[in-house]
Amino acid sequence: MQTAIIGTGKIGEAIAKKLIKAGHSVLLTNNKGAESLKDKAASLGNLAIPADISEVNQAEVLFLTVRWSHLQQVAADVPNLEGKILVDVTNPILDDMSFDDLKGKAASEIVQELFPKARVVKTLNHYFLKWIDEDPKVDNGKRIAFVSGDDTEAKNTVTNLLNEFGFKSIDLGNLAAGSKLQQAGGSLAALNIVSYPA
Ligand SMILES: NC(=O)c1ccc[n+]([C@@H]2O[C@H](COP(=O)([O-])OP(=O)(O)OC[C@H]3O[C@@H](n4cnc5c(N)ncnc54)[C@H](OP(=O)(O)O)[C@@H]3O)[C@@H](O)[C@H]2O)c1
Repeated sequence: MQTAIIGTGKIGEAIAKKLIKAGHSVLLTNNKGAESLKDKAASLGNLAIPADISEVNQAEVLFLTVRWSHLQQVAADVPNLEGKILVDVTNPILDDMSFDDLKGKAASEIVQELFPKARVVKTLNHYFLKWIDEDPKVDNGKRIAFVSGDDTEAKNTVTNLLNEFGFKSIDLGNLAAGSKLQQAGGSLAALNIVSYPA
């Protein structure tokens, strides 16, 4: 599957590694442009392709891994994402580390408003970087990945990817209710949850 990372920083690179390990091609983007990502792409192998933000709509599934303060700019820069699956891994944390005031909305509802033609699915944001980066196999168990979204087919596609990565996926329902539990400040945030066989 052709995938893309919008924002190949710490989280974006960790997810790119997992996509590549599962055999998917990944377009890597950042704010500085494709040229600045050549060395990083070379270190990740030949499934990693440095790209400009204008090229991301070549991908079917796009991971959104930019800081909350950069979302508006990304929404302005990114081409039309009609029908694309946009996997929201962001948290509504401002640059001074305070939580943004979302006025009762879920953070992913705001992401959906910024990218109205994409099919937004929330996942992995409730973990710290190390738990996203690590192998989700823990002893004889699997780390849990929560998934929320309003589009069932998009959610299934993301669930399949997470299962390929080695997570056990749990569907939390729609963006309005489910993703609120996942986001920073939500009741599932920062919990390291592993499912063990009975
Ligand atoms: N770090 C964690 O433990 C953690 C855990 C879960 C979720 N999150 C969430 O994940 C997101 C990313 O966090 P991070 O720690 O990976 O941040 P980061 O290391 O600062 O990476 C952010 C990336 O976004 C890129 N970017 C900025 N503006 C852009 C634009 N207009 N177009 C394309 N790319 C752009 C940056 O590009 P340049 O390099 O060119 O500046 C950088 O590569 C945040 O929303 C954070 O809340 C973080």
